[in-house]
Amino acid sequence: MSNNLLKGKRGIVFGALNDMSIAWKVAERAVEEGASIVLSNTALAVRMGTVKQLSEKLNCEVIPADATKVEDLENVFVKAQEILGGKIDFVLHSIGMSPNVRKKRTYDDLDYNMLSTTLDISAISFHKMLQSAKKLDAIAENGSVVALTYIASQRTLFGYNDMADAKAMLESIARSFGYIYGREKGVRINTISQSPTMTTAGAGIKGIDHLMDFSERMSPLGNATADECADYCIVMFSDLTRKVTMQNLFHDGGFSSMGMSLRAMDQYQKSFDQYTDENGKIIYG
Ligand SMILES: NC(=O)c1ccc[n+]([C@@H]2O[C@H](COP(=O)([O-])OP(=O)(O)OC[C@H]3O[C@@H](n4cnc5c(N)ncnc54)[C@H](O)[C@@H]3O)[C@@H](O)[C@H]2O)c1
Repeated sequence: MSNNLLKGKRGIVFGALNDMSIAWKVAERAVEEGASIVLSNTALAVRMGTVKQLSEKLNCEVIPADATKVEDLENVFVKAQEILGGKIDFVLHSIGMSPNVRKKRTYDDLDYNMLSTTLDISAISFHKMLQSAKKLDAIAENGSVVALTYIASQRTLFGYNDMADAKAMLESIARSFGYIYGREKGVRINTISQSPTMTTAGAGIKGIDHLMDFSERMSPLGNATADECADYCIVMFSDLTRKVTMQNLFHDGGFSSMGMSLRAMDQYQKSFDQYTDENGKIIYG
């Protein structure tokens, strides 16, 4: 259903890889809400083919860019303005990757070159994006920029590894740049902290199935889906959130405010069964 929330707005969506990607859903919803958009992803992701399917479906162009390369990002902002015919009203940063996670290096055995790559792709790219846009004056007054993050930036969750450090930095960049861009151009910058979601990046998180089950049981509203995340992004791009900036906005069904739920405790109790003797006495720990 469309409410024309983005009617006449121009946007750039970074990070749609396949139809599970959160950015894919955001691109679809943005067009449904009346926006004109361009897509961007790495040259490799574009060559893999599925991004083209999305661009054909939405009748929009794809501009390849490695988000760690400033010249690539500048090219996206210059070309996107040419294609869309004016300054950009909204930008989605939906980019993340950790070579340490991919290579199964644990947090106490990180490869530091890989850590640099994790931080560059998953966090510093956000700064590069914002700095490129600002220097080119590519974002319209009162524009809106959103990056996607995860609660492991603030609380330790098993297995999230060096992506936790990257997300902490990403959220900090939103605040630091949000002050400057807001003061000078009225551009608002926020992060949305999404529930664990089964995407290509999500599947890389150690024990994602169990993590999703745990947060589903802990959250009064259950895990937020990628489609629901797209809805929230649309609201943040719209004029309905003109004064929201420098925030980390939880979109997680209430998970971030919970300590323990009955459903999670119930499941937790079951795990003790294997450690009880014939009298039901727990025989470990
Ligand atoms: N899936 C989850 O559980 C979850 C939860 C919270 C936040 N997030 C965040 O949402 C965002 C999107 O991830 P997703 O879950 O949709 O997975 P995804 O794998 O579909 O998207 C990740 C994207 O990053 C792109 N990317 C990687 N390196 C890049 C580079 N150098 N330059 C440009 N793009 C690059 C990939 O091509 C891909 O499109 C990420 O920031 C992720 O950390 C995901």
